[in-house]
Amino acid sequence: MLVQRYFYSRKTLVDEALKSYIVEPKEGPTDLYKAMNDAVFPGGKRLRPLLLFSTYEMLREKKNLASIKPLLPAAVALEMVHCASLIHDDLPCIDDSNQRRGKPTLHKKFGEATAILAGDALLTKAFEVLTDLSDKEKAVRCISILAKAVSSRGMIGGQTVDILASKKNVRINVIRYIHMKKTGSLLQAAMDIACVLFGAEENLMITLGNYALNIGLAYQIIDDILDDVGAFDMLGKEPFEDSKNCKATYPSLIGIEKSKKQAKKLLDDSYKMIKNMKKNDILVEFIDTIRERLP
Ligand code: IPE
Ligand code: IPE
Ligand code: MG
Ligand code: MG
Ligand code: MG
Repeated sequence: MLVQRYFYSRKTLVDEALKSYIVEPKEGPTDLYKAMNDAVFPGGKRLRPLLLFSTYEMLREKKNLASIKPLLPAAVALEMVHCASLIHDDLPCIDDSNQRRGKPTLHKKFGEATAILAGDALLTKAFEVLTDLSDKEKAVRCISILAKAVSSRGMIGGQTVDILASKKNVRINVIRYIHMKKTGSLLQAAMDIACVLFGAEENLMITLGNYALNIGLAYQIIDDILDDVGAFDMLGKEPFEDSKNCKATYPSLIGIEKSKKQAKKLLDDSYKMIKNMKKNDILVEFIDTIRERLP
């Protein structure tokens, strides 16, 4: 199957599922609904749901659209958490960004209060959606995985250190920690949840979790590079945000060329982790797609 067709069909599936969960309320605040809707649609690359599906289908050793439908609550939950994280990341008190996915950021359109609440609403909705997974024992494990990934030891922890580290001279290990947590955690959760829903053995789950953290770190280094070289069209968000906020990033500490080398090495290492796995073509494609973002 063509890779483009693989991604397109699964992106459509997750978009439809997201639509079925974000429904205009018959009563209650319409503006909040509109804000939530705007944060999720038309959406971005839907990387986390796609990583969930491709991991599950690799483990099944078979690509089949019908077989991933039971995973949709998990796909929706991952994307809701991600979109919530972007709303909060863009707020004036965090990155103070004006553009996201080629549109004004949520607080620019709806005001700060509604943006904060829409982020909260999406984040909590994600956990409600996970209870729709049919195997309730597995659902509890998925809720626990996602909660840890978002927590003060996961994405929120990473975002916090990201703020604390700005305007400071920090070591590369601190930036590595920030990136692994703020970006890697959710990618790792996507792969861990795929492993739980498939019933993969512990060792395999650990290896795939490491693959996710590695590509997460590479992805964030490349995001920092793209911000630094001013790639607005590619990003759909305003460039030079990191230097504006004096963020500790790979390019700010070691320069663009060394950052590129680091990202390439991480992607090479990620490949080594999965190269002997059967039916790994889509996970290999993930690595290539991330590498192609390098300017
Ligand atoms: C943006 O994530 C935030 C980072 C982790 C760099 P994505 O690049 O996955 O954003 P969308 O969802 O495709 O817009
Ligand atoms: C944000 O990192 C990561 C999360 C939202 C958790 P960035 O601040 O670099 O993301 P962009 O550049 O605004 O998309
Ligand atoms: Mg940020
Ligand atoms: Mg930001
Ligand atoms: Mg960025």
